Amino acid sequence: MDKDITEFIDKYVQQLKTEGLIHSEAVERAFRKVRRDLLLESCFKFDKDAVVCLPVKSDLNDPAVLELIYSDEALITRIGPDGKPTSSTSQPALMANMLELLDLKRGMSVIEIGAGTGYNAALMAEIIGDPSLVTTIDIQPDVIEQTSRLLAKAGYGGIRVLLRDGFLGCPERAPFDRIVGTVCCTDLSPHWANQLAPDGNMLIPLQHGGPNTTPLMKVSKENGNLVGCIAGWSGFMNIQGEMSIQHPWARAPWYSSLDDSSIRRLPPLPEMPDCGWEWEKLTLLDFHYFLALEDRRTCNLQRGFGLWDENKGFVLSPFSKEQEPVTRLYGDESLYREYLEIYERWHALGRPRARDFASEFQILGSVNTQPSLYKQGDSWVIERKFFRQIVRLES
Ligand SMILES: C[S@@+](CC[C@H](N)C(=O)[O-])C[C@H]1O[C@@H](n2cnc3c(N)ncnc32)[C@H](O)[C@@H]1O
Repeated sequence: MDKDITEFIDKYVQQLKTEGLIHSEAVERAFRKVRRDLLLESCFKFDKDAVVCLPVKSDLNDPAVLELIYSDEALITRIGPDGKPTSSTSQPALMANMLELLDLKRGMSVIEIGAGTGYNAALMAEIIGDPSLVTTIDIQPDVIEQTSRLLAKAGYGGIRVLLRDGFLGCPERAPFDRIVGTVCCTDLSPHWANQLAPDGNMLIPLQHGGPNTTPLMKVSKENGNLVGCIAGWSGFMNIQGEMSIQHPWARAPWYSSLDDSSIRRLPPLPEMPDCGWEWEKLTLLDFHYFLALEDRRTCNLQRGFGLWDENKGFVLSPFSKEQEPVTRLYGDESLYREYLEIYERWHALGRPRARDFASEFQILGSVNTQPSLYKQGDSWVIERKFFRQIVRLES
């Protein structure tokens, strides 16, 4: 390997190790071996308000370009007509975390929903030791064309790269020891459940309480039932195709157009520590998980979460340390009181973490076009599009 590239990769892998995201030898070896630069032709950078396209291939002699490729950044590779990203190579920290959670072993068969650049598929091929055991699917034809071509050139031609809706999985290559989603899913697909090996598991970013920060749901089969628990957090773009539905939680269509002076600043949630983006330490996200079980008006915006009510307004807690540590209220004060009541219920339960809740997934007899949320005894029920998710607090 080119000496310059090796230096960039060394630094990049070291950073992921220092942050505790890579801890197994197999994952480290894969990150050292696969060339992210070979799987990119161009990427987009957000520069103030403008989106700038960076032609990666022709700039590989530029150290700044290599620095960017071998940094802990998600790199956007496609932008849709609405200006929103539709494909990327995900944030390396997130990929490393998910690869560790997947616990891939040599000889396992795996399917990935969301091929993107193929970087994660190549990392999995290295860990498994055989590219032909990796299948990766993407819904965008131009993504598949580029990714098959670049993967083959980079030495991973054995990976099966398929153009189709990931919802369908790949029955012709099932069963899979692992099914991994690298796109934010609104539900599980019944096809994945059928294609999962009896002792296999899935790791799926499963939308909960809004689209931005998504719990990673680890799902396995137990006595024929599909059961899951939260294994971590992620941030992925939304899935397209059959699984793209209006989610069961609130959206905030007019939030960004609000004049800041019309928003009231109220005391922050009591006993809630300041939150920065430190993986695994986000108490605020644990409360958000509970909030979304209790109230379908839960919303999750880029800068915070809370409740969003079409008639009353919104109440939001900020996510990042850079923001004022206040609760922001727009509209009716009763919404703030309702928010505090849910917070008190969470507190009374001992402030459970998201990972303290267990889920069971039961297939719905029909496709649910209007997802719903309700309480049943001590359980919370989320009726998604294909599955009923029954959530219980583990004692
Ligand atoms: C964040 S990117 C995946 C990153 C990729 N794993 C990598 O290593 O570069 C998400 C991808 O999911 C794809 N996608 C969205 N909806 C999909 C669907 N229903 N089936 C398959 N792929 C889908 C998008 O086209 C996009 O390329």
